[in-house]
This record gives sequence, C-alpha cells and structure tokens, in this order.
Amino acid sequence: MLRFIFLLFTTTVLSSSTYRPVVLMHGILSGANDMNELAGWIRTSFPDIYVVSIEVGNGEDDSLLWPLEKQVEQFCTSVLADENLRQGFNMLGYSQGSIIVRGAVEKCSLPVHNLITLSGIHQGVFGVPYLLKLPAEFRELVSKYAYESAVQDVISVAGYWRDPDQLNRYIADCRYLPDINNEREARNETYRENMLKLNAFVMTYTDIDEVVTPSRSGWFMGYAPNTLDVETWNDSRQFKEDLIGMRTLLEQGKLYTLTSHVRHQDVPHAPNRDFIIENILPFFNNTLS
Ligand SMILES: *[C@@H]1O[C@H](CO)[C@@H](O)[C@H](O)[C@H]1NC(C)=O
Ligand SMILES: *[C@@H]1O[C@H](CO)[C@@H](O)[C@H](O)[C@H]1NC(C)=O
Ligand SMILES: *[C@@H]1O[C@H](CO)[C@@H](O)[C@H](O)[C@H]1NC(C)=O
Repeated sequence: MLRFIFLLFTTTVLSSSTYRPVVLMHGILSGANDMNELAGWIRTSFPDIYVVSIEVGNGEDDSLLWPLEKQVEQFCTSVLADENLRQGFNMLGYSQGSIIVRGAVEKCSLPVHNLITLSGIHQGVFGVPYLLKLPAEFRELVSKYAYESAVQDVISVAGYWRDPDQLNRYIADCRYLPDINNEREARNETYRENMLKLNAFVMTYTDIDEVVTPSRSGWFMGYAPNTLDVETWNDSRQFKEDLIGMRTLLEQGKLYTLTSHVRHQDVPHAPNRDFIIENILPFFNNTLS
C-alpha cells in the first residue's frame, strides 16, 4: 500500500514538471524546415517537449531581403503570440539566426533561460566566402555599398557587414549589429540588463567553417582595426568595456564556448549530430518549475 502511494506520488510530481519549451531560428537563405533534424533530436531526448521553429516573412527570400531590425520585430511578435511560451523557454539560433535570437533577447526582453548560438556571427562577417553564398547580383552591393542607406534597407547582410577598414562607418551607418552590440556612443542599458538575466549564453564556432570569416565571430571575435587579424577577448572593446555584459557573464560562469568540426552548412544537420547531442542538448535538460 505504502509503495503504491509512493508510486502515485512520484508519478504526479514528475508529470507536473515539464521541460522548458524550445524556440529555434534558422540561418540565411533557408526556412524553418532547415531546423527539423535538430528539432527531432530534441524531441527524442525530452519526451513531450514543445519545440517551435520560427520563420520570418516567407522564409528563404525574406531572410535575405528584410533588414534584421524588421526580422527581429516579426520574430518577437510570433514568439510573444505563442501561448506555450508564456512561462519562459530556451532558445537557439544558427548562423544569421544567432544575432536574431540575441537581438530578440536584448530588444524584446523575452523570458529566455538558456540562449544558444551555433556558428554565430556576433561580431559580423567580412570577406569573399560569405559573399559567395549570396545570389551574384547582391555581392557587389554588399562589398562596395553596404553602408549606404538604400542597401541597409533591402539586404540583411548589410546589417552585419563589418569592414575592418571602415569601422567608423560601420558604427555610424550599419543599422543592426553596432546597435545590438552597444557599440554606439549612446548605449542602451536595457540590452545589457537583458543579457545578464540569462542563465547561460552558449557560443560555438566550427574550426573548418567555409562560409563565415572570421569564423571566430561565433565566439564574438572580429577583425582588429585595419587588419585581418582576429581580436582576442582581452583586446576587444566588447569585452573590455562590457558593452552588453559579456565580461560579466564570463565572470559569473554563465558564458560557454565550444568548437565543432563540420562545414558551416552542416552545423544543424546529421554530420554534427554527436556534437549537438553531447554538448548542446544538456542546455535543454531543464524544467519549468
Ligand atoms: C537530463 O538530466 C538528468 C538528470 O541529471 C539525466 O539523468 C538525464 O539523462 C538527462 N537527459 C538527457 C537527455 O541528457
Ligand atoms: C532601448 O531599447 C529598448 C528595447 O528595444 C527600447 O524600448 C528603448 O527605447 C531603448 N532606449 C534607448 C535609450 O534607446
Ligand atoms: C585576459 O585577461 C584576463 C583578466 O583580465 C586574464 O586573466 C587572462 O590571462 C587574459 N588572457 C589572455 C589570453 O591574455
């Protein structure tokens, strides 16, 4: 009898705690379906978990043709409208999606527990490999005219094109990344406060990335001024001045950095499955209380 009551008790307790829902955001020139494989691994590991993969506009085209401010606005509208997410969730963004999910945390104060970015572009991109990913007619617009207002209006990449020879123009005229990175003179303290509410901030890059240069942008490192040498955390303004709280997160033990070893395009797919199951799924292993 006692044993029966104990069983009843544990069953009730277990079923009353549910895994935190998960929100996924795909990369450029793809749609919500690109995250299906990853979503499947999460669902298999955590029974009954709610996982939603967000798509902005019509997905593939609009991920390139909408400026990121607009994509983040739409992203937040979708997330905030979803009743299953009201009590909080974990969130993961891949590639361009990394700065959409981070921007959404900073600007929309979403109730995120763990924020995970896979092969992110936190300190922007610059260079030929990323251009080659774009349709040919867009390449010169980005490489030559990224900081023109008309280009900022119509190409997402212009919002995170970080040219080390034109860092002053980048900070002044690039609309998205310098804003969410708090690089302008007038900082937004809310961005920093929201980042510091996270339980964990996870950043990965792949050491054979064929698309993102510098690949360490995934770890929030960019090119130093007027060179193609990658800055270290210690010499970057982001960490020295703690612009969005990166150094504080590090000191609090809430910043996690990981390296994977697959092509960029394979990051959310089967070739990276073992890495994700071993290193990333633990960040989803938590429940709503
Ligand atoms: C989740 O954490 C529990 C408790 O530490 C552990 O037993 C379980 O194996 C973990 N599940 C996954 C899928 O990692
Ligand atoms: C800071 O960002 C928040 C959220 O986007 C916004 O509501 C607020 O107006 C911004 N504050 C400043 C001083 O720009
Ligand atoms: C970076 O700075 C921290 C503290 O300021 C120091 O402990 C660490 O050794 C430095 N790392 C490198 C690689 O210089």
